[in-house]
Amino acid sequence: MPTRALREDIAEVLISEEQLQNRIRELARDIQADYVDVENVLLLCVLKGAYIFLSDLSRLLDIPHEVDFMAVSSYGSGTTSSGAVRIVLDLKQDITGQHVLIVEDIIDSGRTLAYMRRNLLARSPASLRICTLLNKPERREVDVPVDYLGFDIPDKFVVGYGLDYAQHYRNLPFIAVLKPEVFAPEVSGDEGA
Ligand code: IMP
Ligand code: MG
Repeated sequence: MPTRALREDIAEVLISEEQLQNRIRELARDIQADYVDVENVLLLCVLKGAYIFLSDLSRLLDIPHEVDFMAVSSYGSGTTSSGAVRIVLDLKQDITGQHVLIVEDIIDSGRTLAYMRRNLLARSPASLRICTLLNKPERREVDVPVDYLGFDIPDKFVVGYGLDYAQHYRNLPFIAVLKPEVFAPEVSGDEGA
């Protein structure tokens, strides 16, 4: 594979680093106000895509909280969903009676979060809310209640700030659309959401 700069693959920056950071500061303020009377919040990061969002959000929250991680898989290494959702990494801790806030990178069809929500509610948390950085309303197939939303975006495949294409581009500090020639012919797999 030839060596190349990641940024040469970008067609358009959809949300700049500054826009992201400003919006996340607002989200943190809203979350903090809502949970101010709660003893502890569990921020539940959906791997891998939400890891950067979680780390920025967590550092802006001046309330007691834990972080934990779950990984679910619904996407192949391409840009379309394989449909099925499964847990590939589960929590070790019991969340009974805990205030859980799911932190997700993006809602597309809604299948991932609908599945996670059902699964987590069955474990009897004291509360369960959803915070997503991005949302593609046009793509929704399953309804999911979103409590905190960063940005609605158009139906475009995006990368950066945790989101990947074929596991790359997660490290870009902004949200971008790739040049069409970057996309390889799609292969189906089921890892990497
Ligand atoms: P859903 O189950 O269809 O809502 O898909 C949600 C998951 O698909 C997200 O957590 C992402 O990991 C992935 N995904 C959806 N849209 C995009 C995108 O535009 N870029 C990168 N990953 C995406
Ligand atoms: Mg995700």
